Amino acid sequence: MNQSITLHSDVAQILLTEDEIATKVRELGARISSDYRDRPLTLVSVLKGSLPFMADLMRAIDIPVRIDLMEVSSYGGSSTESSGLVRILKDLSASIVGEDVLIVEDIIDTGLTLNYLIRYLRGKAPASLRICTLLDKPARRLVEIKLDYTGFTIPDQFVVGYGLDYGELYRNLRYVGVLRPEVYSGAPEG
Ligand code: IMP
Repeated sequence: MNQSITLHSDVAQILLTEDEIATKVRELGARISSDYRDRPLTLVSVLKGSLPFMADLMRAIDIPVRIDLMEVSSYGGSSTESSGLVRILKDLSASIVGEDVLIVEDIIDTGLTLNYLIRYLRGKAPASLRICTLLDKPARRLVEIKLDYTGFTIPDQFVVGYGLDYGELYRNLRYVGVLRPEVYSGAPEG
């Protein structure tokens, strides 16, 4: 079986092209560079979905930045629904006490994961804590969260690509797309 044909043909619709994403990431990088011009910034990215966004965003920022990575998993939900119960699989490597911190997220859906993360990171006493997300899906929000930098606001559709997965696949797509409904039907949850 040809893997690349299966990969792309599972996508019903391309929501954001590679070019649209690249343009937006450059804009966000320029805004962040200007906002933090005289302040040392730490970018905290949340694996695994934010990996491509973080890699591109940090190179679109032209002030000195430190980076750190966390990995969280929500449990008790399904492969398309977050539960709000969050487990930290990988914590920060360095202290953020007194640092200006920007969380770099792939997508905010219900907001439950980010809400947990914000409370967790605030407990580590950063000087400031702001949020940058590539995608915002406000239709399903369960907790109110102030987003400081948003790439795209998208409709209530489950999307894959540019880091986002379904069942750990499709992260390597260079665009963001909507999967064909057949891909979900009959798929085991979890
Ligand atoms: P939340 O806690 O509901 O805001 O969900 C946050 C996490 O759920 C994201 O970091 C993603 O890992 C995952 N997620 C939410 N919506 C989507 C989607 O449309 N596609 C892929 N993953 C998603």
